Amino acid sequence: MVAMKRLYEVLDAPVEQDTPGAGEADLYKPIEFRHVAFGYDGQPVLSDVSFTVQPGQTVAILGATGSGKSTMMNLLQRLYDAKEGEILIGGRDIKTIEKKYLRSRVGYVLQEPFLYSRTIRENLAITDAHSDGFITQFKEGYDTMVGERGVTLSGGQKQRVAIARTLLRDNDILILDDSLSAVDTETDRAIRDALVEGRGNGSRVPTTFIISHRLTTLADADLILVLEDGKIAQQGTHEELIHQSGLYQKVYRIQAALEDELNSEIA
Ligand SMILES: Nc1ncnc2c1ncn2[C@@H]1O[C@H](COP(=O)(O)OP(=O)(O)O)[C@@H](O)[C@H]1O
Ligand SMILES: [Mg+2]
Repeated sequence: MVAMKRLYEVLDAPVEQDTPGAGEADLYKPIEFRHVAFGYDGQPVLSDVSFTVQPGQTVAILGATGSGKSTMMNLLQRLYDAKEGEILIGGRDIKTIEKKYLRSRVGYVLQEPFLYSRTIRENLAITDAHSDGFITQFKEGYDTMVGERGVTLSGGQKQRVAIARTLLRDNDILILDDSLSAVDTETDRAIRDALVEGRGNGSRVPTTFIISHRLTTLADADLILVLEDGKIAQQGTHEELIHQSGLYQKVYRIQAALEDELNSEIA
């Protein structure tokens, strides 16, 4: 009965409407947020968000919980539409781009990945996201069952399978919403290196959005956005932001101090 209720919740959900006349467009183009404002049920969440990113570049977003990071990524996939301002891809307002098409070209890895209770092979169908090492260690390798009837993967292992699954597709845009925090620093770097080399699908590097508070992840980005209460408080590169007083510099100093402490501890 519980399962039925859940099924009907899905089956009875109204079909999502698209903007009349919306169509397909090349999404491997510059992405621009122009004075974007948004709120859920009238509660303001984002205001005056503006930045531009070039195709293939990486944008990192730093901000406290509730500052609106995931909301920005929701807007980029048209899960909601901006209330004010606009999001342009290649100069075209995304409200004129078909939702279904847009989402088919955007790879999205969530903080809490969902894996099907099937084999790992079925969950991804083999790729290169630095998951091969741990998968081949299982007796059944890629045919290892995941979930209740199989092995319980650690948070980091699950995350790697989820990322691999996303990289298998040919994405124009890739969103890693706090997806790398469950893996160790080394794996984090390996995954990002694999992305840069375009090894995910043997082709071009998608325009990538990474939400993270890990300094090594942020520092490598082409553009860093510091989000505070729904506004972009600072934006720039690592070199620029460490010289400005603000959240980024604070995070930098804390994480650098921790590292120093750790190093002297080991020495
Ligand atoms: N679907 C939703 N409906 C109503 N409020 C939401 C919804 N999603 C997020 N919020 C609210 O919007 C604000 C920003 O949330 P979010 O974008 O998830 O922040 P972050 O990802 O930076 O933690 C928070 O106050 C959150 O409670
Ligand atoms: Mg979030």
